[in-house]
Amino acid sequence: QCVLTGFWVNDLGSNMTIAAVNAKGEFTGSYYTAVSDTTQKIQVSPLQGYQNLMSPESQPTFGFTVNWSFSDSITVFTGQCFVDKKGKEILKTMWLLRSRVDNIDNDWKATRVGTNVFKHPQPQK
Ligand code: BTN
Repeated sequence: QCVLTGFWVNDLGSNMTIAAVNAKGEFTGSYYTAVSDTTQKIQVSPLQGYQNLMSPESQPTFGFTVNWSFSDSITVFTGQCFVDKKGKEILKTMWLLRSRVDNIDNDWKATRVGTNVFKHPQPQK
């Protein structure tokens, strides 16, 4: 089993908290990015998504959108929740970051793509 609800940290040092997944597969949460393309002060931003409920007991797929509250861009993440060989939950994701551009001639350079891996942080001793 792999549960999305909880606190996650990715390979960039960003963190997110996902609240309960409801009966329709919908969830909300908050995202604190460690990096930004803007000069604005980074702020916690809301996220909203779906878990696919076809196989909820077995490593589900999901997607969510982060609506950056300090920037005029939007990121969508899509991924799957896995249990790794050590029994730890891990989210393997890909993202698209859409930046706002001033005119349509700049549309070609407005979307970035990447991957992020999220894990639950290890409790410190
Ligand atoms: C912006 O710079 O306009 C908003 C912040 C974007 C942060 C990106 S989203 C994809 C990647 N994964 C992260 O955790 N942060 C960056």
